[in-house]
Amino acid sequence: MHSLANKHILLGVTGSIAAYKAAELVRRLREGGAEVRVVLSAGGAEFVTPLTFQALSANPVHSELLDTEAEAAMGHIELARWADAVVVAPASANVIARLAQGRADDLLAAVCLATEAPVAVAPAMNQQMWANAATQDNLQRLRERGMHQFGPAEGDQACGETGLGRMLEATDIARHTAGLFDTGALAGLRVLVTAGPTQEAIDPVRYLSNRSSGRMGYAVAQAAAEAGARVTLVSGPTALPTPPRVARIDVRSAQDMHEAVQEQAGGADIFIATAAVADYRPAAPAEKKIKKTTDTLSLELVRNPDILAGVAALPGGPFTVGFAAETENLLAYARDKLARKGLDMIAANRVGGGLGFEAEENALSVIDANGVTELPQAAKSQLARRLIVLIAKHFRRRLG
Ligand code: CTP
Repeated sequence: MHSLANKHILLGVTGSIAAYKAAELVRRLREGGAEVRVVLSAGGAEFVTPLTFQALSANPVHSELLDTEAEAAMGHIELARWADAVVVAPASANVIARLAQGRADDLLAAVCLATEAPVAVAPAMNQQMWANAATQDNLQRLRERGMHQFGPAEGDQACGETGLGRMLEATDIARHTAGLFDTGALAGLRVLVTAGPTQEAIDPVRYLSNRSSGRMGYAVAQAAAEAGARVTLVSGPTALPTPPRVARIDVRSAQDMHEAVQEQAGGADIFIATAAVADYRPAAPAEKKIKKTTDTLSLELVRNPDILAGVAALPGGPFTVGFAAETENLLAYARDKLARKGLDMIAANRVGGGLGFEAEENALSVIDANGVTELPQAAKSQLARRLIVLIAKHFRRRLG
């Protein structure tokens, strides 16, 4: 269940007696560390009230597609983008048929059409309805389009019959949902990631630093772990929790980070440098607190080692991925950095205008010798997963 940590799960609840199990599913998903939003269909609301889901998810419940107020708060496109995965549980025979038709006439169906995230259905219906060729044909079409299917199980049914069609238990659906994120794309590989800012001491109480939150690097480390890699994260000071299954080494200054990375890089297959390393440090940090005795004060700064270029220069070193944050000439500056530092790949992002440092969302242009791949604006966690897919592809290509 580790892979539910920090995930946005959109749970679609439709009209079936199994809707009561969806209430427990919200709890299981949240226990795994996911944030949950519920889209309740009109049929689903006949079985369980919106208030139940609101209380359990700690988020407002979404149900209207064409309500101006609801769309203004979080419309169907925003919900579709917000989701890291959409799980329809219970999925009635009716909703399965409607998804197979690609309809967009209620909120849940519209979100399922509009999302790039994986979508899963957990069928729940009477065994005859389940066995009907129409239902089976619809599900086959959905599976062919890449939709995931969890269950159903066999057993006693609410209608008094026995057979296939019972919805899986909440814990099983939560486990399968976590499994959607375990891609295995980096299975068996060792990945080293740097993240966060560095702090360069001026005196015992002051330092030079920058506004990096570390979010992108932590998201990259988590996505690499979910892809099956053994991940070491060398992190500057941040307020973030360590992602599950990631080994973290805490450092402060660029020099500390450089030493930690040099120690780890030999055993790494892939090195991803997301840290915002200070380019300069005070030449001679004061041993005692500097007192304000003069009107002006000059600090002499000296260059820090380039951690990324150092790894890229290692003979037989790892596949190296750099980041470039730029306010202008994005592609030109990034291409220059790729060549100058001898990297395999660089992920360039524009800072400013609500993107980049301190922001929840980002957009990346990923450049390597073969060209540019655009990863459009999305939450950093989603972007990190797409970047890991690209890195895995290019790493394997380099191996031949
Ligand atoms: N980097 C590093 N060690 C440094 C500086 C940067 O490993 N001392 C890495 C960053 O983690 C990032 C990339 O190099 O992956 C950024 O390159 P850099 O040239 O330092 O970026 P800027 O400082 O933004 O570039 P410029 O000086 O051109 O503004």
